Amino acid sequence: MSAIELRDVVKTYPDGTSAVTGIDLTVPDGSFTVLVGPSGCGKSTLLRMVAGLEEITGGEVRIGDTPVNKTAAADRNLAMVFQNYALYPHMTVADNIAFGMRARKVPKPEREKRTREAAEILGLTPFLDRRPANLSGGQRQRVAMGRAIVRSPEAFLMDEPLSNLDAKLRVQMRAEISLIQRRTGTTTLYVTHDQTEAMTMGDQVVVMSKGRIRQVGSPTSLYDAPADLFVASFIGAPPMNLVRAELVRDGDALAVALGGSRLTVTPEVLARHPDLPSYAGREVVVGIRPEHLQDEEFAGPGREGDLLRAEVRLREDLGREVSLLVNPVPGSSSWSRLVLDDSATVEDDPTGAAATLTATVHQRTRLRDGDVASLRVSLPELHFFDPSTSLAISGSTPGSVPGAATHGAEASSPDSTTPQPA
Ligand SMILES: Nc1ncnc2c1ncn2[C@@H]1O[C@H](COP(=O)(O)OP(=O)(O)OP(=O)(O)O)[C@@H](O)[C@H]1O
Ligand SMILES: [Mg+2]
Repeated sequence: MSAIELRDVVKTYPDGTSAVTGIDLTVPDGSFTVLVGPSGCGKSTLLRMVAGLEEITGGEVRIGDTPVNKTAAADRNLAMVFQNYALYPHMTVADNIAFGMRARKVPKPEREKRTREAAEILGLTPFLDRRPANLSGGQRQRVAMGRAIVRSPEAFLMDEPLSNLDAKLRVQMRAEISLIQRRTGTTTLYVTHDQTEAMTMGDQVVVMSKGRIRQVGSPTSLYDAPADLFVASFIGAPPMNLVRAELVRDGDALAVALGGSRLTVTPEVLARHPDLPSYAGREVVVGIRPEHLQDEEFAGPGREGDLLRAEVRLREDLGREVSLLVNPVPGSSSWSRLVLDDSATVEDDPTGAAATLTATVHQRTRLRDGDVASLRVSLPELHFFDPSTSLAISGSTPGSVPGAATHGAEASSPDSTTPQPA
């Protein structure tokens, strides 16, 4: 097993399409690294360059300590699992698993031993004599995994291997793949456009957009400290509320003016975002995750300046929790929400729901449509972004942000014509 290194990797397709640029990434030995990002951001291109299925335009790919730019795919000893797992319909499960070994002339006893072991790991032992047509989608996917496992490759490369499965099976298989990876300890590079899959499976998650890496980190570090507006809005479901707000002076302290409410910038907030005072008197983008807006009645003791007053527009009972869509209180000043558009740029919400925030609150909340709610904001969990660069205002961001300065400039910087909260 081996680490995979990419240094300043570039891919421009023959027709001139620039698919990825300036990719620096280490996939640590034994890690489960997930590439995630919207459709067309270059995930498959990157994976296929590692696999040797796509020529590298610039930069270097290393597997272990060996540069492989000029190594043929067949000589890289990597196992690929794709969305279309292409099993041979006329062969049994055992023969499908052993197929690659036969092609590589692995002796029969060794072939059978490895097939049995893989089947055991994958729970396929009872099905070894069946044909693919008589298996469920999940079982077929496991046969494809088995084929990869028996090769004892340097690394697994997987491109959306679960996207053909229904939602329930996908959840089940994602746990199985994680367990198999832990059991075999094989370095894995896994591509998905599904942020939930990325967060649940990866121990290292690489967020990409438009052919570049936006942020690399553990799922927790991406969630707690997104480096820019793109990562902030892409990671998390329901997504983080992002609103324009003015940072105002409130006596000696700073506060966020949001609608008619003022949220205090506490010493703890300042400690997390040391650069914040330089934004006093200016507009910032404030990020509030839905679970950090709680119904005051169930939120436990708070502190002064942590309440957001808002009108409930729609209550959705989800069983375990209640989702509230809230608007500014009528008559008070409004706020303006940002969203992620299809091309992964962050913009003012074009849908007309520009003032609606989501709060995920206690299942026993008594708040109903039309009520004016007092929502307790978890102040230390607030996020702040510079509207002109789209980068997090911090000074102490965990997780690496390769080339953050250039990435920020690329994201559309919101213009300043939107009405500002008073
Ligand atoms: N053979 C090709 N020739 C020209 N352009 C290509 C080729 N393959 C991919 N592209 C372009 O390169 C970019 C990246 O494509 P890629 O397939 O890597 O995206 P992706 O992140 O895997 O997307 P998805 O989630 O939809 O699979 C896209 O703009 C795509 O249109
Ligand atoms: Mg793809």
